[in-house]
Amino acid sequence: MSPSRTDPPAKRLRVVVVGAGLGGLAAAIAISRTGLAEVQVLEAASKLGELGAGIQVSPNCSRLLIRWGVDKYLADNVVLPRYGRVIRWQNGEVLAQAPMMPQIQEKYGFPHWHVHRADLHEALRKKVEELKIPIKVNAKVIGADVDDASITLHTGEKINCDFIVGSDGLRSSMREVVLKGEEAAPPFVTGDYAYRFTVPTEDMAGDPVLADCVKTPMAIGWWGPGMHVVGYKLRNETMFNVVTVFPDDGTMDNTYKMEGEIEHLKELYKDWCPQVKALLDRARPGTVTKWKLMDLPPLQRWHRGKLVLIGDACHPMLPYQAQGASQAIEDAAALAQCLRLLPLRDVGPVFQQLRYSRATQIQKFAREQRGKNHMLDGPEQEARDAAMKDASTAARSAYAWTWAAEDGEPPKPWNEGLFGYDAEEEALRRIRKLGYSVDDE
Ligand SMILES: Cc1cc2nc3c(=O)[nH]c(=O)nc-3n(C[C@H](O)[C@H](O)[C@H](O)COP(=O)(O)OP(=O)(O)OC[C@H]3O[C@@H](n4cnc5c(N)ncnc54)[C@H](O)[C@@H]3O)c2cc1C
Ligand SMILES: *[C@@H]1O[C@H](CO)[C@@H](O)[C@H](O)[C@H]1NC(C)=O
Ligand SMILES: *[C@@H]1O[C@H](CO)[C@@H](O)[C@H](O)[C@H]1NC(C)=O
Repeated sequence: MSPSRTDPPAKRLRVVVVGAGLGGLAAAIAISRTGLAEVQVLEAASKLGELGAGIQVSPNCSRLLIRWGVDKYLADNVVLPRYGRVIRWQNGEVLAQAPMMPQIQEKYGFPHWHVHRADLHEALRKKVEELKIPIKVNAKVIGADVDDASITLHTGEKINCDFIVGSDGLRSSMREVVLKGEEAAPPFVTGDYAYRFTVPTEDMAGDPVLADCVKTPMAIGWWGPGMHVVGYKLRNETMFNVVTVFPDDGTMDNTYKMEGEIEHLKELYKDWCPQVKALLDRARPGTVTKWKLMDLPPLQRWHRGKLVLIGDACHPMLPYQAQGASQAIEDAAALAQCLRLLPLRDVGPVFQQLRYSRATQIQKFAREQRGKNHMLDGPEQEARDAAMKDASTAARSAYAWTWAAEDGEPPKPWNEGLFGYDAEEEALRRIRKLGYSVDDE
């Protein structure tokens, strides 16, 4: 895609990106790549970095990272899962196993990766550095003027620009500015907490109960009543990432992240199959974090004046579909095209129009996925398991989603809607359809 347009603008846009998470760094890269803007990133924390552990990067996201040249900085850190497998909590029975790589690559043209969040963040940071985009740390943004595009830091310093990207996450201060307090509804608790930790693959390979989990790279989900566990390898297959989701026990009323209690973790899953218990036995003190999973009601608007929200700031993704980071990165790609092709006053409304229905659908799927993962044992769960074990399309279709029809397009099977999506191409198609000129070859 050509980064230039036929008539270059009189001056380069100055864009300020608030928040250097995965979404903010992706936005800085995508916008800088248009060649039309000077980008600056502001981060509240005193140093850059990412917590948590693994994330799944689906092909709709890997295609953007590859196009932007971020993949070269990921190198051997990505893992290509061979399968996705679902296991019954109680007896270790395999309920379903679906091929992932290389089939996903063959079908969608781009890979599915398992990657450590810190590795993805670092790869994006290196690309930002390569593009000579400055990142200012210790820069907490406390306010923004959306008419003349300026932001205020906690130090009182004011920074002027032409456009602001609010990628400051779930507890976004830029969201307050967009909603002006009127319609602001704070994040709410989902009723679930999560524990996250990693185990060296080598240790598991030597354990007869766990060896099967690490022999072949795959995404494993153990589903049970009210809870589930997910595991997959990271970092050139040297590390096994574990996330366990379980009901709110009231211990996190005043915080959203704390050190995990290993005894509590083991107690929660004490009736689960030997494999899960053996896995949790390998959690080491000081390496387990406990998270409160939060959600946000759908927002009426994602933009105001010269400020646009992306990522968790406007559509946080519950981790039941593992898509939040990917959606933030898709947002970044679409927003860059809006900035490149549209008059500034149209950027916010068109961006929201391009992204709203997709992001909202994925949020809804993630919320629904929670119910599927956590079904109580009984007739409904038996029907689910029977359908998952039945390879026939007819039985499975009762549980498969389709991608709702949108903008005159026919509905698509879930995976195609999700994985076959090119956020940049889609933005161009929709912008063209709205009657703007898109002068690409
Ligand atoms: C337990 C768990 C598991 C998950 N698993 C997955 C997964 O497998 N796959 C996946 O794709 N997603 C997953 N997600 C979701 C994913 O983490 C998020 O959707 C994604 O990180 C959002 O990126 P972001 O850049 O929008 O926000 P964030 O990553 O929250 O980044 C926001 C940044 O803004 C900074 N900031 C905040 N306020 C200010 C301010 N006022 N001024 C300046 N800077 C500020 C913050 O310090 C931070 O660096 C998971 C989430 C959780 C909780
Ligand atoms: C790919 O699609 C999934 C599901 O829709 C979504 O969660 C993910 O964020 C998408 N990736 C990108 C880069 O948009
Ligand atoms: C990744 O693993 C492979 C196989 O074990 C090894 O040959 C390669 O050197 C590793 N890469 C890095 C960067 O460690």
